[in-house]
Amino acid sequence: MKIGITGASGKLGQLVVSKLKEHISAEDIIALVRTPEKVESLGINARTFDYNQPNKLAAALKGIDKLLLISGNEIGKRFLQHSAVINAAKEVGIKHFVYTSLLKADSSTLVLAPEHLNTEKAIKASGLDFTILRNGWYNENYTERVKDTVAHGKLYGSSSDAKISSASREDFAEAAVVVLCEDKHRNKTYELSGDLAFTMEDYASEISKLTGKKIPYVNLPEKEFASVLEQAGLPEPVAAFFAGTHTATLHGDLYDDGNQLNQLIGRPTTTISKSISKAL
Ligand SMILES: NC(=O)c1ccc[n+]([C@@H]2O[C@H](COP(=O)([O-])OP(=O)(O)OC[C@H]3O[C@@H](n4cnc5c(N)ncnc54)[C@H](OP(=O)(O)O)[C@@H]3O)[C@@H](O)[C@H]2O)c1
Repeated sequence: MKIGITGASGKLGQLVVSKLKEHISAEDIIALVRTPEKVESLGINARTFDYNQPNKLAAALKGIDKLLLISGNEIGKRFLQHSAVINAAKEVGIKHFVYTSLLKADSSTLVLAPEHLNTEKAIKASGLDFTILRNGWYNENYTERVKDTVAHGKLYGSSSDAKISSASREDFAEAAVVVLCEDKHRNKTYELSGDLAFTMEDYASEISKLTGKKIPYVNLPEKEFASVLEQAGLPEPVAAFFAGTHTATLHGDLYDDGNQLNQLIGRPTTTISKSISKAL
């Protein structure tokens, strides 16, 4: 049984590969990546696979039984890119197609949602056996900037007291591995989120507790928050996008209490506190 992993050069993909190697032989895992040299250290076979070259995808999938399509990162281009992968998977008869979607893709107000939902629809229309992993936010979306927050002495945001149930990238990687290794997840859609929800105020308190430095949370209107991010060096579109994700939090888009991630991986999800400690 050969398993192909797209995005294996990315942060989530590398974690998936290293965890998958604990379950199946490295020879049975194939990295499907734009630049095979980038994944040499993973110790698995790699094939060139660029979502933007639809005519070359089916040949690269030959002999692969199960495929994990890790969603691409070029926002706006992804539906076409993902459709090309789905068509190629259908052409070669992939037996199980697994896709990393977005939490509540069918109701989320995040600008990211339509591409994910349309991809989900295309997967279902293809007739392939599938599993949709609707991944919630990564803890690391917050904690990768925690050192800057501590240095600055304040945490800015615009999500008021809305709840966020994120989990670590590692948790989501583990869920993907479980689904790839067990047959009982076919034709299911999972809403994956962390067990313990937190607000930005809670997040600031955790940082304060772990560093011994009082970090207050300052809630701002979305536009003001975006300009604070720009002043901190983020390019304008990135700042606007990130501030928009905070507003989406107000609609409950980053919150879910179904505990499906915990159930899939068979353990509690990684708390934001643990991820802060790791990042510090
Ligand atoms: N849940 C969340 O909080 C969250 C946050 C950020 C992103 N995401 C989504 O989850 C995905 C995985 O997250 P991540 O942290 O691993 O992101 P990442 O590190 O940016 O990885 C993205 C991967 O997609 C690959 N890719 C991009 N365009 C491609 C193309 N045209 N053809 C083939 N491969 C292509 C990249 O390959 P290269 O190495 O060649 O660039 C990389 O391996 C992201 O791509 C995004 O869709 C989710």
